[in-house]
Amino acid sequence: MTFSRIRSLITVGFAVLAITLLLGIGGADAADPALDEPTNEPAAVDADAYVVLAWNDLGMHCYNRDFQDLAVLPPYNNLWAQVIRKGDPPEIVTSGVKVTYSFPNNTYSVGKSNFWTYAKALFNVDLAPNVGLTGKGLSGEMDQQTDHYIAEGIPLTEFSDSDLTKADPYQLATIIVNDSTTNAELARTITVAPVSTEMHCDNCHDDGGVENISTGRVETNILTLHDDEEAVAAVSSSAVNTSLMQQRPVLCAKCHASNALGTTGEPGVPNLSKAIHEKHEGEVPDTTDGCYNCHPGPTTKCLRDVMSQEFGMGCVDCHGDMEQVAKNPDPWLNEPRCDTCHNEGPYDQNQALYRNSTEHGGVYCAGCHDSPHAIAPSSQPNDAIKFIGWQGHDGPIDTCTVCHVTGPTAAGPHGQIFVPVEGFLPMMKR
Ligand code: HEC
Ligand code: HEC
Ligand code: HEC
Ligand code: HEC
Ligand code: HEC
Ligand code: HEC
Ligand code: HEC
Repeated sequence: MTFSRIRSLITVGFAVLAITLLLGIGGADAADPALDEPTNEPAAVDADAYVVLAWNDLGMHCYNRDFQDLAVLPPYNNLWAQVIRKGDPPEIVTSGVKVTYSFPNNTYSVGKSNFWTYAKALFNVDLAPNVGLTGKGLSGEMDQQTDHYIAEGIPLTEFSDSDLTKADPYQLATIIVNDSTTNAELARTITVAPVSTEMHCDNCHDDGGVENISTGRVETNILTLHDDEEAVAAVSSSAVNTSLMQQRPVLCAKCHASNALGTTGEPGVPNLSKAIHEKHEGEVPDTTDGCYNCHPGPTTKCLRDVMSQEFGMGCVDCHGDMEQVAKNPDPWLNEPRCDTCHNEGPYDQNQALYRNSTEHGGVYCAGCHDSPHAIAPSSQPNDAIKFIGWQGHDGPIDTCTVCHVTGPTAAGPHGQIFVPVEGFLPMMKR
């Protein structure tokens, strides 16, 4: 598989902003327990109407269940949205609107995660309760970036307000577009923000597990093992103190560079992806179930897309095995490309990463297909809600009149043409 690389880094701004509470939006919904069955009626096909496409950028976000000993990743979800004014032709809207997000059934995180107790020690920031590393809260305004809107670093947990005991990794966000002058609502949709703590390090690092270490907790077993293994680590170029048990809570990415957190790590120390995948090569099978030891997971089943459900594909088909993942020269920024395999049709990505690529009229691939690992139709019913809202059925947006007022006469996405079907919404066919 050929990869191309981009060099820009995902940087985490540590500025702490005041939480923007959007009173009036979602306020009534927040008290409404009926949110388990969200409604999202197909929009009428009117001229001058708006549609908002929204999605999560990665398809899954993982964070630690407990931060008292160590942090691999903090709570940190990203939502993207594109606002389109319907018309002949449609137009991507980048001004005159305000785009907000909220989680009607997930309005707070303190008490659902102890992240706020340890955020200062881990990230050296003072965070207000329920505010994440970029200053975003669980509701607020999305920021405009060229052709889309983004809320980055939402400190979302996997626990709905209505059930604090059972993890629900497919949390629902409501995205609302308002006219910034009149405040009139122009469009809304519901999208999944996937989030999970399902990392089964306990499969092996439980008490009496790897190297027979028993400290009472999985996390301290791991730190003790690291201390034992690296006590004599010959990192000659730097004086890294690897007595991790003495430094709790420990941020792995402090010493091991991670593009996910924008840390550069200590010189001479392998990046976190390389360290962890290389060390565990041969310890887990090179299969989806093997990856599910650490990625979420046998219960969450974060890989839920059409390729896994209908064509039997697994992690290794796209990412390669543990050895290949460990060799990724630029973790998080150098990932599989759709057009490596889908190379015989007009499916070219215009950016190195799927999440940054656009196609037809500047619409993001993920706007029509959803996030990586959730390429529609997905096995999770919550992923389908928005597609049904837009076009009456699940699967990628194949209905020209989601955006066009009248069926276009020329070809559209991937050369597909408008085909009116009597009694149904117009569908597209190749
Ligand atoms: C399938 C079993 C298994 C799972 C699951 C597993 N580990 Fe390990 N891990 C091992 C074994 C075995 C070793 C020791 C390997 C060796 O000595 O070569 C190890 C070593 C380590 C080390 C020691 C690194 C060093 O300093 O040499 C760390 C840290 C570690 N694991 C972290 C984790 C974390 C974090 C997770 C969960 C995200 C995890 N492991 C999941 C089996 C596992
Ligand atoms: C204080 C710095 C520091 C922190 C924090 C730290 N490590 Fe390490 N880690 C090291 C050093 C130094 C090595 C040895 C690197 C080498 O041998 O080249 C190492 C080695 C490892 C290895 C073995 C790599 C290999 O191929 O042998 C793994 C796996 C690992 N660390 C995982 C973790 C995890 C998971 C965390 C968070 C719980 C963590 N580290 C936190 C400094 C750190
Ligand atoms: C059909 C191909 C495919 C399969 C199967 C697949 N991935 Fe991915 N994965 C991708 C693509 C494409 C990206 C990069 C998307 C982007 O641009 O962000 C990616 C990115 C990632 C990332 C980085 C975060 C991100 O989304 O960019 C992780 C972690 C990851 N995959 C893990 C897994 C695991 C674990 C599995 C199996 C449970 C898996 N993937 C299965 C295609 C796949
Ligand atoms: C022992 C635990 C463990 C196992 C097993 C594991 N991963 Fe990971 N993986 C991690 C951790 C921890 C990170 C986060 C690293 C970081 O924050 O930079 C990660 C990050 C990733 C990433 C994003 C970073 C990158 O390198 O681009 C991909 C892709 C990925 N894993 C794929 C896989 C695949 C595919 C498998 C199975 C073949 C697998 N992982 C098995 C622990 C594991
Ligand atoms: C490792 C190769 C590989 C990668 C990478 C890959 N695909 Fe696929 N994809 C396949 C295969 C094989 C099928 C089975 C049907 C076929 O051959 O078209 C498939 C099927 C599909 C389908 C279903 C088509 C249908 O007939 O229902 C869609 C949609 C799709 N892929 C989109 C994507 C997107 C979007 C990406 C990037 C995020 C991607 N694929 C990355 C190999 C891949
Ligand atoms: C305007 C909506 C839209 C956009 C934007 C879009 N697609 Fe698609 N795409 C579709 C539809 C509809 C299909 C047909 C699905 C089918 O036939 O099952 C499709 C099919 C595909 C397939 C499946 C090919 C096969 O084997 O059948 C791939 C791969 C794909 N798109 C990749 C991409 C990539 C990569 C981008 C961004 C560069 C993108 N798409 C942007 C709507 C879109
Ligand atoms: C998700 C929204 C969306 C969907 C769905 C969509 N389009 Fe478009 N389309 C756009 C945008 C945005 C433009 C760019 C208009 C511009 O460049 O000013 C566009 C432009 C076009 C154009 C060129 C301008 C024009 O109106 O003549 C054609 C032709 C077209 N689309 C055909 C199609 C066809 C056929 C379909 C269904 C198979 C389709 N589109 C589905 C958003 C969409």
